[in-house]
Amino acid sequence: MCGIVGYIGHRNVADVLVKGLQSLEYRGYDSAGIAVIDYPDEEKSVQSPAVHIVKGVGKVAELKSMLAASPVSGRQGIGHTRWATHGGVTEINAHPHSDLSSRLVLVHNGIVENYRELRAELSVPEERYKSETDTEVIAQLLSSLYAGGGAREMIGALVALHGRLRGSFALVIMVKDIPGKIYCLRKGSPLVVGFSEEGEALCASDVPAILPYTQDVVYLDDGDIAELSAEGMRFWSAAGESLEKNETHIDWDVSMVDKGGYSHYMLKEINEQGAVLRSSMARRLSGEGEVDLSAELPWTKEDALAWKRIHIVACGTSYYASLVAERFLETITDLDIRVDVASEYRYRNLPVGPDTLAVFVSQSGETADTLAAERLAKARGARCLAVTNVIGSTLAREVDDILQLKAGPEIGVAATKTFMGQMAVLYLLSLYVGKLRGTLTEAYEKSVGGELLLLPYKIESILQQQELLYRLAILHSDARDFLFLGRGVSFPVALEGALKLKEISYIHAEAYAAGEMKHGPIALLDPRVPVVVITPQDDLHEKTFSNILEAKARKAPVIAIASEGDRSLDSAADNVFNVPTTLPVLSPFLTVVPLQLFAFFVAKLLGCDIDQPRNLAKSVTVE
Ligand code: G6P
Repeated sequence: MCGIVGYIGHRNVADVLVKGLQSLEYRGYDSAGIAVIDYPDEEKSVQSPAVHIVKGVGKVAELKSMLAASPVSGRQGIGHTRWATHGGVTEINAHPHSDLSSRLVLVHNGIVENYRELRAELSVPEERYKSETDTEVIAQLLSSLYAGGGAREMIGALVALHGRLRGSFALVIMVKDIPGKIYCLRKGSPLVVGFSEEGEALCASDVPAILPYTQDVVYLDDGDIAELSAEGMRFWSAAGESLEKNETHIDWDVSMVDKGGYSHYMLKEINEQGAVLRSSMARRLSGEGEVDLSAELPWTKEDALAWKRIHIVACGTSYYASLVAERFLETITDLDIRVDVASEYRYRNLPVGPDTLAVFVSQSGETADTLAAERLAKARGARCLAVTNVIGSTLAREVDDILQLKAGPEIGVAATKTFMGQMAVLYLLSLYVGKLRGTLTEAYEKSVGGELLLLPYKIESILQQQELLYRLAILHSDARDFLFLGRGVSFPVALEGALKLKEISYIHAEAYAAGEMKHGPIALLDPRVPVVVITPQDDLHEKTFSNILEAKARKAPVIAIASEGDRSLDSAADNVFNVPTTLPVLSPFLTVVPLQLFAFFVAKLLGCDIDQPRNLAKSVTVE
C-alpha cells in the first residue's frame, strides 16, 4: 500500500523516481506523483528554488507520459503511489502535498488518526485546504513547527511533528529553503534508506526501488529521523538524539526484480517454486532428511518442553500456508495448536503467555494486523517467531526468533512462491519442534525430510504440463462461480486455489471442506458452476470421491487434481490433472501448483491485470 521513493544524485531525478515507483507498483495504488526541486546554481539561470509537482490518477506509466510531455529538472525529488484512504481517487488527493505557503512538499504512507483534531487546531480556513487527505494536514502542521531556521531547526520540527501525530506514517519531505536534503520520518509504516558508491542518497518503502543503486540499506525503526544528502545519511531518534544505524546487506540482486523473460511476474514466480523449495531447505535439512534449525533458533529441549501450545497467526495466503502446517504439526507434536487470522486473533481472549510459542507468518513482515497480533503475544510473554521473506521488516525486527523464507523478492500481488516457501519453512519448524520435544521418531523425520528433498523435481514436472492447464482454463474461463473442495491438508489448498482465482480473475470462487458441501454450497451446483476437487491419494480419498459423485449428480463440471496413477477418477470427473505421488502429508506442495497456473491462465484469457489486480495491495499496512 502506498509506495514512496526519494532521490538525491547526479542522474535524471524524474527518471529515477518513475523507475522506483514502477518497482513498487506491486504494493497496490490508484494514483501516482512526483515532486522535484530545482535549486539555483552557477550553471543555471534559475533565480529561486522551483518546486515541480506532477501527479495524476492512474498508473505510473501515465505519470511517465505526463513527464515526457512536460519534463522537469532538478537534483532531488520524491515520488509516491497512493492507495486511497482519506478522500477519493483524484489528482488533488494524489501525493506529493505541500503546506499552504508551499515551503515544503512531502509524501506519506500510513494513516494519521488525529488529523481532524489537528486540522481544527491549525485554524486554517477550510477552503484553503486543497485536498481531503490527512497528508496535507501533516504538511501544514510541519510548516507551522518549522520557523525557517534551516537544517538544524528542521530536526527539532520533525521531533515535534512525531510527538503530535497519532497513527502510522512514513514521511519523506523536501523543504524549499534547505537545498540538497531530503528528510525521512517513520512510525509504523516501512521506510528504508541507502547511499550508493556514486554519492546518491535514496529512500523507499521497500528495497526493490533502491537495489539498482546499492544493496546496502538501513531500515528505519519507529521514531527514526533520517537526513539524506549527496554527502551521506544522518540519523536521529524521536527524542532528537543523534543515532548510529547499522546497514543491512540485501542478498537480492536487481535481476531478481525483473520479469526474467516471462510475460508476468506471477508466472515467473510460479515457475521459480522448485528453486524456492531448494533454497528454503538448504542448510536446514541434511541429505538424509534430518532437520536442524539450531543455527537460526537458539531453542533448547527445555524451552520446547515448557511450551503447552503453538499459535500460528497470519493473513491471506500466509494464513492458508499456516492452515496446511497446522495439520502436519498436530500429527507430530503433542501440543495444542491454534491457527488464526491476525485481525481476529488480536481481539480474542486466548490463552497466550510464556508457555506459548507464537509464530507469525508474513511474506512482507509489514502486515498491520499481523504486527498488532505479534505485539499482543509479546506483551503477554509468548516466545515470538517470525516466518518472513523480508529480513529487515518490522516483524523480523520485533520478534525473538526469525526463520527467513528464501524465496527472493515476490512482485506479483497474488502470492505464489512465498506460499511454497512458507509451507516448507513451517514443515521444517514442525519437524524441529517434534524433535526437540521427543515426539518424532528418527525414521519418520527421515521419511518426511527425504521426501521434501524430492519435491522440487516433482514441482518442475508439474510445471512442464502448463499447456494442459491452459486448455482447462479455456474450457472454464466463462464461468462466473467456482467451488473448490478438499479434505484434510487439501482443504487449505482448496482455500488457496479459490483465493488465487478470485484475486486475479475476479471470478467468484468459494472453498469448502469437501464434507461441508452438503451443508449449503450444493444448492448452487448446476452445469454452470465448475467444482475443483483436490483429491490426492490419501486416507480421505474415498470420502472425497463420494463428493465428486454428488457434484456430478447435479451436473456440475468437475475438475479433479489427483495423484498420478489414480484411475478411479477417469470416469467420475470431467477433467483430471495429475500430480506426482508423494507422502499424503506433503501433497499440498504439489496440488497447489496446478491451481496457481489455472488461476493465472483464466485471468490471462479474461485480459485481467494479473500482477496488479484491482483494489489489492501486496503489503497491507493499514488495519
Ligand atoms: C495481502 C496480499 C496477499 C498476502 C496478504 C498477507 O492481502 O495481497 O498476497 O497473502 O496480504 O501478507 P503478508 O505479507 O503478511 O504475508
